[in-house]
Amino acid sequence: MTDLAETDYFSDAAVAQDPYAYWDYLRSQGPVFREPNYGVVAVTGYQEVHAAFKDFESFSAVNAIGGPFPPLPFTPEGDDISEQIEAHRHLFPIFEHMVVMDPPDHGKARSLLGRLLTPRRLQENEDYIWALADRQIDEFIDNGRCEFLGEYGRPFATLAIADLLGVPEGDRDKLRSNLGAGVPPGSRVGALDSSPVGSNPLEYLDDLFSGYIAERRRQPADDVLSGLASATYPDGSIPELLEVVRPATFLFAAGQETVTKLLSSALQVLCERPDYQDRLRADPDLIGAFMEEALRIQSPTKVDFRLARKTTTLGGVHIPAGTVLMLCLGAANRDPRKFDNPNEFQLDRKNVREHIAFGRGIHTCAGAPLARVEGRVTLRRLLERTRDIRISEAKHGAADVRQYSYEPTFLLRGLTELHIEFTPAWT
Ligand code: HEM
Repeated sequence: MTDLAETDYFSDAAVAQDPYAYWDYLRSQGPVFREPNYGVVAVTGYQEVHAAFKDFESFSAVNAIGGPFPPLPFTPEGDDISEQIEAHRHLFPIFEHMVVMDPPDHGKARSLLGRLLTPRRLQENEDYIWALADRQIDEFIDNGRCEFLGEYGRPFATLAIADLLGVPEGDRDKLRSNLGAGVPPGSRVGALDSSPVGSNPLEYLDDLFSGYIAERRRQPADDVLSGLASATYPDGSIPELLEVVRPATFLFAAGQETVTKLLSSALQVLCERPDYQDRLRADPDLIGAFMEEALRIQSPTKVDFRLARKTTTLGGVHIPAGTVLMLCLGAANRDPRKFDNPNEFQLDRKNVREHIAFGRGIHTCAGAPLARVEGRVTLRRLLERTRDIRISEAKHGAADVRQYSYEPTFLLRGLTELHIEFTPAWT
């Protein structure tokens, strides 16, 4: 225990590879517990994470992405730091994006997204996603093997969002390449284009979408981007150009890596459990429940942060205003008080849909319906188009000595690579 008691969650390489033992240690100290290195209060209990998400009056989302980094740009004073937060908001990472906004600005930004994510648009997007899944699989099926993240996950997740936003077909390969999701075989995009993205993909996307929306405002067409360009706030006022652009471009930031991580972790389970492949092939209706359990057991967003704006209590623990809370979604989803045998993948888990992988409350993941469709369609088409899917032993070792490597980040949980082999269904 000594090691774990001194572990720095944010920089420890071994914890990035396997956070679960560390979270068990934190939980053994209590569901709400101050960790020693940054004074961050770690919340590992399901009920307590849930409560913190819901209580937006006590907990601001201003630090949702960075947590303790960079340190607060002010010294908290008193039992209500709301005014200090507002005075320094522009100094927090990605302060222009809805995920770190608080009411009332958050509601305004989210309402614009609501104009885009209509049931009709989502249905049209789902139709595209079915075709997209097949196109991606076509790129590697004849090889009998692939590196799943690069050859399927990233391009698939990127193109699904590009379609949702109505990016013109002719621009999609370039976007895919510029966002690091590779190029389709035979494409000349890479050769034609030197990447303008630099180190800030969100700025690149803001510029790209500002161009699209400005053009549609000048000359409306019958397309999704024109719908976005003419969106108004609920009170009828017209948003500034960037106020429309940012909710749209943030979808890429929020939905690319998370979905890639979900798809790869679900497929990893399927490869390791041929019995599940058999069950899902025999009854594809089980795929939905399988994806939910995959979200629970390997939650792609490991942690999320809040800043206590008022002095309060959480799970009976005193939380002074100015405290950084780390909501450990991956731990809450394995809280034994909520989920029986939480470290086991159980396809028939009764309360699996109560997992908290998409958060809760006003910031609940706006892309959850899309992520679910992407997961369901991917597994369905992969299972239909192969006879068996296996982990590549050449790349990951034999079953008893498997080696997987996970992204070394404190925020997201996901494999760096997943090499698979399979027999195409027609051979
Ligand atoms: C498995 C995939 C995904 C996971 C695990 C996930 C997880 C989350 C979580 C935990 C939050 C809450 C953040 C907070 O409260 O601080 C969130 C917010 C958000 N997600 Fe996702 N997400 C996924 C996919 C997507 C996709 C595909 C999109 C869109 C294309 C998306 C768009 C968003 C947006 C816009 C927000 C901010 C909502 C707000 O602030 O009101 N996400 N996501």
